[in-house]
Amino acid sequence: MSTPAENPPLSHDVDTAIRLYMQHWLCTTDTGFIIHPEIPLDTENLNIADVGCGTGIWLIDLDRQMSRMGQLHGYDISSAYFPPADELPENIRFETLDATQPPPEDLIDQYDVVHLGHVGLCIRNEDPTEFLMTCIAMLSAYICPVTCVRGLTQTEPGGYLCWDELDTGSVQPIHSDPAASGGHADLLESFGLAWLSSHGVTTRWIRTLDDTCTRYGLEVVDFKRKPASDALARPWTMMQLMANRDYIENEIIPMTEAGKFPKGHPTAEGWREMLKNLVRECQGGVKLLTDIV
Ligand SMILES: C[S@@+](CC[C@H](N)C(=O)[O-])C[C@H]1O[C@@H](n2cnc3c(N)ncnc32)[C@H](O)[C@@H]1O
Repeated sequence: MSTPAENPPLSHDVDTAIRLYMQHWLCTTDTGFIIHPEIPLDTENLNIADVGCGTGIWLIDLDRQMSRMGQLHGYDISSAYFPPADELPENIRFETLDATQPPPEDLIDQYDVVHLGHVGLCIRNEDPTEFLMTCIAMLSAYICPVTCVRGLTQTEPGGYLCWDELDTGSVQPIHSDPAASGGHADLLESFGLAWLSSHGVTTRWIRTLDDTCTRYGLEVVDFKRKPASDALARPWTMMQLMANRDYIENEIIPMTEAGKFPKGHPTAEGWREMLKNLVRECQGGVKLLTDIV
């Protein structure tokens, strides 16, 4: 079984940051919200945390939407994408934190809302428990949601856990003209999923995240799956292409060249060729769409 430490979650380059911004804005455009509308933001001085925050764009966007002042704190295992402090409002700050470990004392019971966004590929072996436990511990008065869960054992609602995901396992290359070829996209998709699976990354757990939250004593306020919209098919496809390229060039090819690849997987040259063909097919009309959960 692989562990997060064996699999650095992201390569650290400008393209990755751009892709994360794009992914965030595509999701908020398609769902119509930054934070789930069930969560009341009209209270003074809300404490909100974003775990696995990456570029911090979710908090930065949320702050612009909030009419009341809140303290917004972003946590990530890596500070590589944190914006410089002098570009941030005073109420937003970022710190490093490994969400697979219990949080330090001073973060326990601190937040009215804890958010997780698009950390799916960082979850190993179908088990989101470590991330979930860390976020629950950070919530004030033991409360919680997936896009919304509230603690059952409290008489007073305390806080909310919001978990936004992309079900990358749901990506099926689609051609607007069924007679036209999408064979390379299908091939790369299946090799890509097999590669991820051989490293302990599969996304079936996303489909039952509501049940998992219930098992941890949370009340699921809302749990929805929404296909990426056809209207935004091109930007979604470009974003998925960037994700494929990032992962293949920065993770798969270096590991393959170092001889660390499971039997039956393509060579580095094979991956480069599939990527080139995928780009060509997407330019020819293939769509790569994912479900937003
Ligand atoms: C795909 S990015 C998503 C970033 C951000 N939430 C967004 O939606 O743009 C996943 C993030 O999870 C972070 N991450 C991975 N493992 C982590 C861990 N064990 N603890 C905290 N953050 C982690 C990565 O560094 C990365 O920034």
